[in-house]
Amino acid sequence: MQETILVTGATGTVGHEIVKQLAMQDVNVRAGVHSIIKGENLKRLPDVDIVEIDFKKPESLHAAFTHIDRLMLITPLSEGQLEMAKNLVDEAKKQQVKHIVKLSALGAGASPGIKLGQWHREIERYIEESGIPYTFLRSASFMQNLVNYHTESIISEGKFYMPVGEGKVSYIDTRDIAAVAIEALTTDGHAGRIYDLTGPEAISHSEMAAHLSEQTGKEIQFVDIPEEKARQAMRSQHMPEQIVDAMLELYVAHKSGKSSSVTNTVQEVTGRPPHTFQQFAKDYHECF
Ligand SMILES: NC(=O)c1ccc[n+]([C@@H]2O[C@H](COP(=O)([O-])OP(=O)(O)OC[C@H]3O[C@@H](n4cnc5c(N)ncnc54)[C@H](OP(=O)(O)O)[C@@H]3O)[C@@H](O)[C@H]2O)c1
Repeated sequence: MQETILVTGATGTVGHEIVKQLAMQDVNVRAGVHSIIKGENLKRLPDVDIVEIDFKKPESLHAAFTHIDRLMLITPLSEGQLEMAKNLVDEAKKQQVKHIVKLSALGAGASPGIKLGQWHREIERYIEESGIPYTFLRSASFMQNLVNYHTESIISEGKFYMPVGEGKVSYIDTRDIAAVAIEALTTDGHAGRIYDLTGPEAISHSEMAAHLSEQTGKEIQFVDIPEEKARQAMRSQHMPEQIVDAMLELYVAHKSGKSSSVTNTVQEVTGRPPHTFQQFAKDYHECF
């Protein structure tokens, strides 16, 4: 019998890609969306059921979890993420879900690590304690962050700004995270596994700018900025102070080269190499 897989955060950067790739598999896909309107474009995919859920409202989860076999657990980076994830895990336990694949962050296992990793580790621990078989996808920073957070300044000024100096980062393409998730959700042998996922190389932001320039035919520059300027920019976007601090801590790690380790896990799990930044820039050049 076909399995049913629920993907939460299904309209988000990674969730959307997972739903797209899962729709090509021999499974029933249930896309958990925060609002039906935002989930509208998922309806075009074959065999995808859309269900409305609110992570903060446990009573909204029951129908979405009924008769699912596996859960792809994605929660947003937010102050309430631990509570949201706990609600999802509690419902998964109630409804005897067989396997949870969780999107986590590289460095979640580091001690003491940084806040972003510690928050993910807390959720991972909660999943471990639930007794449900799990797979953790500990991902490096996403190449697609450039599309989500930097297109405005790139389009209007030909520049993007971050407080990361010449630090190299092993950015990953979210299409590769999704490809690993598909393997973990649809093939055997992934229970109890923790996958550290990175792109194929560590790359500096100046090098990224050079690739973007080449692929778009426009001059695109990376501008290193002081931490305080980055703080002000995030505050002006009404980002909660706790998240601002956590992001700045991540940028310090990027700047010091601590985010540059590269793994071979995408290749090992999917059988093909991860996208290079150059390929990403080619495929997404129209966004910039
Ligand atoms: N960005 C990175 O470089 C990076 C690297 C490693 C790990 N991560 C981790 O990746 C995760 C985020 O993944 P992402 O970037 O794919 O997510 P995202 O694009 O931020 O999307 C979050 C999704 O969650 C939904 N959502 C938000 N609040 C909700 C609620 N109360 N109830 C139901 N749905 C809700 C959103 O729907 P609406 O938009 O409709 O609210 C959206 O579909 C975080 O845990 C982050 O720490 C990120």
